[in-house]
Amino acid sequence: MEKEVSEVKAAFKEELSTVKNSKDVERLKVLYLGKRGPVQALIPRLGKAPVSERPHLGKLINDLKEEIASLCDAALSGYEEAELSKRLNSEAIDITLPGRRRYEGRKHPLTQILDECISILGSMGFSVQYAPDIDTDYYNYEALNFPANHPARDMQDTFYLTDSLLLRSHTSNTQIHVMENHSPPIRIIAPGSSFRNENISARSHVFFHQIEALHIDQGVSFADLLSTLNEFLSRLFKKEMETRFRPSYFPFVEPGVEPDIRCTVCEGAGCPLCKQTGWLEIGGAGMVHPNVLEKGGIDPERYSGYAWGLGIERLAMLRWNIRDIRLFFENDMRFLAQF
Ligand code: PHE
Repeated sequence: MEKEVSEVKAAFKEELSTVKNSKDVERLKVLYLGKRGPVQALIPRLGKAPVSERPHLGKLINDLKEEIASLCDAALSGYEEAELSKRLNSEAIDITLPGRRRYEGRKHPLTQILDECISILGSMGFSVQYAPDIDTDYYNYEALNFPANHPARDMQDTFYLTDSLLLRSHTSNTQIHVMENHSPPIRIIAPGSSFRNENISARSHVFFHQIEALHIDQGVSFADLLSTLNEFLSRLFKKEMETRFRPSYFPFVEPGVEPDIRCTVCEGAGCPLCKQTGWLEIGGAGMVHPNVLEKGGIDPERYSGYAWGLGIERLAMLRWNIRDIRLFFENDMRFLAQF
């Protein structure tokens, strides 16, 4: 029996020398130490050996078992280590690879400056009102003291949808809607789109935005208009803004003015942007015409008010030194990503 024990041992060692990976070792271990393996097969034969030899033979079999087990474990741990490091290498992530960049979304520059205008004017006591982009001739013209066939209608080339429906040519249509629905004191701003059938160029577009302001109360004066507009512009441009007001004509105000600000590029010395005048136009303004108050159901003997309409694109172009209004509507990421 001693001979058989050493044969099993030799056969095992022979096979162990041919294994290639941890799976082979596992299989070999089960094969030799399992219930139907050669080691187990030796046990029944102990009963047939002389009683005096049994302890000695039993120990031999046990030693064989332990040796096989420990040789297998040693081989396993060697393979497992090698296999793990191989797997780690093959699955390794190259942390030096540059990451994929995610572009951060941001607000369109016109929205940014509009939000700023709303927040400044909001803090000065104005609340926001909206009127439709598609409106009737009555709100865009008639009630604003432009009777039918009035030559001042030519100042704003209008997109008519039908004889009486149009794309509003200014945000001033809001004035009448607000007066119809509120009684003084009224202190509102109306930001929004305007449309005019003009040639598209670096300075003008068929689609643009304005911010209208309307303040009606007892005793509102021209001085209120000037000081409020000056204060707003200084807060928007974050410095004391020099302004001037040129007399101008709009049927819905009397007197009417066009506010200019000191050129933001040359500060008055004269440059191509301000066409050498040192000043830049930013919109229209004036005292609400008594006829308009009447149309809005407000007594012009008791109340007075001022209104202004400023071009949002104009303000944005001055703020960021943008030379072409078309850039706002092209959605070129190289342009938009700068704001
Ligand atoms: N609505 C005028 C325009 O678009 C601007 C304006 C508004 C003028 C309010 C006076 C008062 O040209």
